[in-house]
Amino acid sequence: MPDLNQLIKAAQQAMQRAYAPYSQFKVGAAIVDNRGDIHAGCNVENSAYPIGCCAEQAAVSAMVLANGTSIEDIVIVSEHKNPCPPCGACRQIIAEHSQKNTRIHLLHDNDRVISYSVDDLLPQAFTPAHLDNR
Ligand code: THU
Repeated sequence: MPDLNQLIKAAQQAMQRAYAPYSQFKVGAAIVDNRGDIHAGCNVENSAYPIGCCAEQAAVSAMVLANGTSIEDIVIVSEHKNPCPPCGACRQIIAEHSQKNTRIHLLHDNDRVISYSVDDLLPQAFTPAHLDNR
């Protein structure tokens, strides 16, 4: 399994590729999946503002494409010194592809990390199981 520092580096590299000409807010995300493979993503904005894509969503898409089935850890970084918490939509996307031990790590102040569970960030989540309760 890659360690947290490797995941942070992957997220920082992804952040360099961010396409954020409108917000100037570059974000990178890196996932280690259940097999130990790393998948990264960056935010990709659009002149039609609402259709921009967040870094976390891009990283989850990369994991799915590579046949990874669940997130062990995801690191999210931005260029700012404050932590960059995932937006509401990304919390839902992360929850869909998580398991009970999944951790979400936010980098801040260059080298500090604050970590959460999915339940911390999205309590009472709507999950695939709810679709069976009809
Ligand atoms: N953004 C992300 O990519 N991830 C987050 O966790 C928060 C926000 C992006 C969306 C947009 O391109 C820019 O950051 C400013 O909101």
